[in-house]
Amino acid sequence: MKMLFTGTVSVLLLSGLLFGCGGPDESDLPDSFARLDLDQSEPRRFLQYYFGGYVTPRPADPFEAGLVRERGGHFYLDRDALAQHRPALSGRLRDANRNGRIEWEEMEAFIDRSYNEARAIPPSLAAFADSAGFAPDSTWMEVVVHGVMTTAERRIYVREEAVRAALRRAAETDGRIVYPDGTVIVGRHYLNDALAETTAMRKRPDGFWDFFAYDGEGMLALETSTPPRPLKSPVQCVGCHFGNKTFEPEKSFPAPAPPGPHGPREAYVPDALRDAEVTRRLDEHRRRADTVLGLYGTLFASKLKARRQAGTLDPADAALLDALGL
Ligand code: HEC
Repeated sequence: MKMLFTGTVSVLLLSGLLFGCGGPDESDLPDSFARLDLDQSEPRRFLQYYFGGYVTPRPADPFEAGLVRERGGHFYLDRDALAQHRPALSGRLRDANRNGRIEWEEMEAFIDRSYNEARAIPPSLAAFADSAGFAPDSTWMEVVVHGVMTTAERRIYVREEAVRAALRRAAETDGRIVYPDGTVIVGRHYLNDALAETTAMRKRPDGFWDFFAYDGEGMLALETSTPPRPLKSPVQCVGCHFGNKTFEPEKSFPAPAPPGPHGPREAYVPDALRDAEVTRRLDEHRRRADTVLGLYGTLFASKLKARRQAGTLDPADAALLDALGL
């Protein structure tokens, strides 16, 4: 045992001498590979999210597509592969401090300069609404909240059909609420009844979502502008949406939530939809199976339950409630 330990130490010392600073042996990696020093808690998932959005012809696992590689616990970007997938964008990834590695600040600058373009996010709210068929009518569910993202009142919209599909999937598989590819969820932010900005999520075919924002004039923006703080998209969006922290008012629902430091935290939902059984069964906010934080499945299933009680539920939705055990 002692021998083995000493042996390991001398190998480490030796490689430290050979490669300067005791870093990983990268001598056999082609020159096009740059080490990614990201300091993220879930580096693999973050890389799948960000670089997955640059894989062509459509988002896919960047490890499988050869853009990113893991070796010995370190991650490397193949700059040639990135250039092949994104000839017009790859030059925007700069090693600003010329240390041969890509740090998070450099990667963040690249995402700021290229993610929206890589994902063909529509340049204006009008173009986005057009592409998503977004015109809030009775086919779109509306949920109004004062939450943590902004002090503005948020009116959030998702197609009922998308929520129905996600609930059907939950009933048929593992109970996790996962939306179909292409689903869009829109959050309009109102200050004093005026539309101040719009945030949106659009589901990519690889299971992740694009996050983006439009300013008060309806132009694509790099960040939100309403108080208490600007949020840069997508890098600051994923902080909350990918994490495990629970937020008000969803955390206390169906009970009312206490106010936050910047004002009310409230879901403006009729009492008939504050259904404790559905909330508990789906456990939607805490599980956030799809990085979606709102209670759309919970509220929709509660609405179906209310319809059943009123005798107005159609048979397909009755079967869905049954399948959910509600
Ligand atoms: C401080 C945490 C936090 C950050 C940062 C954040 N969100 Fe959210 N987001 C939430 C919560 C919580 C909800 C649930 C609804 C609510 O309470 O507002 C939500 C809901 C949403 C929704 C509706 C779909 C859903 O998940 O319920 C969209 C769209 C959205 N956020 C977009 C964004 C965008 C775009 C950004 C970045 C510019 C962002 N979010 C940053 C916490 C956050």
